[in-house]
Amino acid sequence: MREAFARDELPASTTLEQAYAVKVKYLGKKGLVTELSRQLGAMPPEQRREHGQRVNALKAELEALYDAHCRGLAEAAEQAALAQFEDLTAVAVPEVGSLHPITRTRRVLERVFAELGFDVADGPHVELARFNFDDLNIGADHPARDMADTFFVTPPPGSSLRAEDLVLRTHTSPVQVRTMLARKPPIRIVALGTVFRRDDDATHSPMFHQIEGLCVDTGTSFADLRATLYRFVSALFERELQVRFRPSFFPFVEPGAEFDMQCPFCGGRGCSVCKGSGWIELGGAGMVHPAVFEACGIDAERYTGWAFGFGIDRMAMLMHQIPDLRLMFEGDVRFLEQYPC
Ligand code: FA5
Repeated sequence: MREAFARDELPASTTLEQAYAVKVKYLGKKGLVTELSRQLGAMPPEQRREHGQRVNALKAELEALYDAHCRGLAEAAEQAALAQFEDLTAVAVPEVGSLHPITRTRRVLERVFAELGFDVADGPHVELARFNFDDLNIGADHPARDMADTFFVTPPPGSSLRAEDLVLRTHTSPVQVRTMLARKPPIRIVALGTVFRRDDDATHSPMFHQIEGLCVDTGTSFADLRATLYRFVSALFERELQVRFRPSFFPFVEPGAEFDMQCPFCGGRGCSVCKGSGWIELGGAGMVHPAVFEACGIDAERYTGWAFGFGIDRMAMLMHQIPDLRLMFEGDVRFLEQYPC
């Protein structure tokens, strides 16, 4: 009966100390099993052998039980200690970022124009007023040069530049000038980037993005401009879309126009996106003005050129159905998470 107690008591002990106390109770010097061994001397010789074997077997069984129970307790203690730490073997699932709708639109535009044979050109955000205005035939009295429209940049100390000589570029058109000054025709480039104006409402932001296209070659004409824009919008929306021009004025092109594309959502029938007109305004375009060629050292007798420009942000709003331009610049992740890669 006593041995049965030991078999029950050991598993009930929850710490190594308790288990050891049970061991001492049964196997210690004054323990119950030790006491059974001592009874051996007082037994008749014929019983000793059987009693001795039973006591030895019991001792061996309790020792094995004790060892196994202690191993179990030690392992459980180790697991409990480990559980307090992070599981270093667990596979972490990182939060995956995504490209901003403007970056995505910009990359799509670059790809489509690359397919149409255009190189990508670049220019600085802080620009010389000469490239941003003068060389583009934008006269000293043009309203765009007003402090109310343009961010002027204070030239660095010691510079020979005057206060009115440095601006945050107001459009991507100065990249036309930089490209024509640096390269000989034939030229076929697009320039995409950030531009700045003193604007701020639901459709006008003080910082926005434009794409500029420029082609200079012998004998290129308005028909090529039209064909390029037609092929561009059709490739972008993967359906045949017409382009139309409305006469307009930009000092750096002559003739100048604004251009619209057939609404890609209703195919020109009229819907809420195109406000029932069937057309969506995109930007400005025209034939490069001879005064611009002259400022850039290009022979206007030999070469002709055309250029176009439009807002990337407006295109992103159109492609992703974004109702307010400002949403794109507020950095709110709830908005950005709607445009996973
Ligand atoms: C220009 O900036 C000309 N440089 C475009 C051009 C290039 C004409 C080559 C001819 C030849 P405009 O000021 O209209 O043009 O701006 C072009 C487009 O930029 C607009 O159609 C509009 O989509 C976008 N845009 C203008 N201002 C803002 C603004 N504050 N916020 C967001 N988009 C704007």
